[in-house]
Amino acid sequence: MSKKVLVTGGAGYIGSHTVVELVKSGYDPVILDDYRNSDPSVLKRITQIIGYEPTHVVCDVCDQNRLEEIFKTYSISGVIHFAAYKAVGESVENPLKYYSNNIAGLVSVLNVLKQNPKVPFVFSSSCTVYGEPMGLKEVDENTAKSIPTSPYGYTKWLGEQIIGDLFISNNRLRMMSLRYFNPIGAHQSALIGELPVGKPNNLLPFITQTAAGIHEKLVIFGKDYPTVDGTCVRDYIHVVDLAEAHVKAIDHLLSLKNGCHEVVNVGTGKGTSVLELVHAFEEENNMKLNYTFGPKRSGDVIEIYANVDYAHSLLGWKATRDINDGVRDAWKWEKSIRNIQ
Ligand code: WQD
Repeated sequence: MSKKVLVTGGAGYIGSHTVVELVKSGYDPVILDDYRNSDPSVLKRITQIIGYEPTHVVCDVCDQNRLEEIFKTYSISGVIHFAAYKAVGESVENPLKYYSNNIAGLVSVLNVLKQNPKVPFVFSSSCTVYGEPMGLKEVDENTAKSIPTSPYGYTKWLGEQIIGDLFISNNRLRMMSLRYFNPIGAHQSALIGELPVGKPNNLLPFITQTAAGIHEKLVIFGKDYPTVDGTCVRDYIHVVDLAEAHVKAIDHLLSLKNGCHEVVNVGTGKGTSVLELVHAFEEENNMKLNYTFGPKRSGDVIEIYANVDYAHSLLGWKATRDINDGVRDAWKWEKSIRNIQ
């Protein structure tokens, strides 16, 4: 009997790709989502990829009673918690929306976990907990967490703190916080991918929408940073590599006899500038992108990328896709949702 893994936010960008990889590894994912920030049509497309309709439940992750019911009904063996708001800019404009949902939702899931201490838990954290890594470019898990530059970043910073405090109170719990860098790309089938609600905040969806003619041009925020070409540097990780890391995390936690709270970077270990990503997109997809340079965006970190040694030593995981795979798959996905040949 396949182990059931509850995937909160399982209809979202990273969640849906993780559901597919869980099935590939023999798990039986249970998608929990209330579709406030995702589209139910993704269920049909996941079905096309995995060959059956995955179990899915509509639930507000803050509804603890409903969560308890779901745990009992489906005898859950593991939890991956994605359900949270994630737009850095929006969190600055509407901080209470982020604190109420992201923190309350996490606490609600952890309260149910406390009643089911044998069930391992993976938390969707973020490299934003490093803030501006004080002149460092490459960060490892021992790099001091800095002051996040947004309420969104604070919800991840505090989320890790809450999990750590819970572990101190009950060291039988098996928990892992995965610090994502910049997820990009889409499943090679082009059936699932990133569906930004409204104008995208993130770079690659803005690039693909500009290439699709939705925006007249891409504005690159700042060109005189102290970096390889003056534009900001990030660690762009293919979303399928990121999904595979979650499966490795669940595998690892299920194999443990004792409790833990591990924090693990999930990136490629390579920095790529905005201009380098734009040029990779142009070359890989054989097109010219219309872009210009604009003022710096407040809150932007200048340069950050992951040291991924720990993910490799602890989980036996490393990214196998590069930014060319990411920009190719992202464009294939954009063309599929816009019916562009
Ligand atoms: C990347 C670079 C922009 C748009 C993201 C997520 C956050 C977290 C960390 C997971 C920056 C530049 C962007 C545009 C641009 N991930 N840019 N023009 O800010 O690193 O944060 O990764 O938790 O959730 O938001 O990503 O894609 O917004 O920006 O020049 O139109 O692209 O200035 O240098 P960021 P991003």
